[in-house]
Amino acid sequence: MINAMDIVLATKNRKKAEEMGRIFDGYDVRFITLDSFPGCPDVEEDGKTFRANSLKKARAVSAFTGRPAIADDSGLEVMALGRAPGVYSARYAGEGATDSLNVRKLLQEMKGLEGEDRAARFVCCLALVLPDGHHKTFTGYVYGSIGKKEKGSNGFGYDPLFYPEGHDRTFAEMTAPEKDAMSHRGRALKKLHQYLITLPQSKS
Ligand code: IMP
Repeated sequence: MINAMDIVLATKNRKKAEEMGRIFDGYDVRFITLDSFPGCPDVEEDGKTFRANSLKKARAVSAFTGRPAIADDSGLEVMALGRAPGVYSARYAGEGATDSLNVRKLLQEMKGLEGEDRAARFVCCLALVLPDGHHKTFTGYVYGSIGKKEKGSNGFGYDPLFYPEGHDRTFAEMTAPEKDAMSHRGRALKKLHQYLITLPQSKS
């Protein structure tokens, strides 16, 4: 289905592209970032689900570039808050909010919540869209709980508050490879990887 295994990553984030490149090392898949396609329109993430947002982005990029495209959308869901901040994770404290303002708002919203009520999960949905319109999505989760204060300085976003299940360190206290091995993004990427390598044309 995918002949030229050039896949456009619907991101300008080089780190995401490098991470994908590492995971697909040894396979005949090459990721190109949006930097190679100036003029590609920005897509408003106005969907109600991670899946809707990732599909919308991947569709727009595939249509613009005429190539297979991959887009992701991710965020944090706190069960006791009705799965907030969810798709609003990046702008929980308002449009253009910083990570630290979002973290502060989350701690405020969770004041008084104890034990099980601090349960949360990170979600990442990756959408693959082909130029002929075919699409497939891959979702990864990591379950854990939200601490009462920030710990650690690695990572980004809500990492300093998130304790993955079975661990007494937050994501921000872990190294990147440690986090990647269990993260929502790592898990979604593994599913995508599994899918791509089973396509006959994708083996090197
Ligand atoms: P996006 O998928 O790049 O739109 O990111 C959505 C938002 O979710 C980020 O700005 C973070 O606030 C949060 N988020 C997503 N993944 C992670 C993660 O791995 N660690 C911490 N925060 C995350």
